[in-house]
Amino acid sequence: MIAPVASAYDVVLAIHIMAVVVAFGVTFAYPLMFVVAARHDPRGIPLLHRIEYTTERWLINPGLLVVLAAGIYLASEGHHWSEFFVQWGLTAVVVIGALVGAVMIPTAKRAEELAARDLTAAGEGTVATSDEYRAVVRRLTVVGSLLSLLVLITILFMAIKP
Ligand code: HEM
Repeated sequence: MIAPVASAYDVVLAIHIMAVVVAFGVTFAYPLMFVVAARHDPRGIPLLHRIEYTTERWLINPGLLVVLAAGIYLASEGHHWSEFFVQWGLTAVVVIGALVGAVMIPTAKRAEELAARDLTAAGEGTVATSDEYRAVVRRLTVVGSLLSLLVLITILFMAIKP
């Protein structure tokens, strides 16, 4: 009898980690993308905000569901439910899902509208960003950074299992 190369638990653990990479990987590149666009082509900024909220809707939210479903399987099969890192993971999923749905997506949509309005106002001239746009971007930056930090801390807790 040949022993299987990997158990179902191993495969689901791999799926859990893949979903984390797929859901959150790109979000760590957002700040760089916006800095490059602002410096080299401010007229591309509305499109970047559209990419931002489309990614959140079609990559992060579904990815989060896969992370959760795989996590539930791992916690059940591995009898980890009473452990802190699992409670933390559940809380992180709820907080991330809520902030992405209630803050990040609507705020990125608003940022797209305001950036497009500023571009129209500038005509062919130099683009000047409005105070309103800067305030909205500040909110995206603060909440986005908190989410990134939460993802990193969660990975740390999942790996070291305090
Ligand atoms: C944003 C949320 C989450 C992230 C970023 C995350 C990340 C990770 C990572 C990177 C690992 C691999 C750690 C290792 O093998 O050493 C892992 C393992 C694991 N995660 Fe999560 N996870 C999240 C949510 C959850 C949730 C919600 C649950 C449970 C409902 C969960 C349960 C587990 C379990 C049981 C393991 C396997 C531990 C082991 O057998 O070594 N995770 N997670």
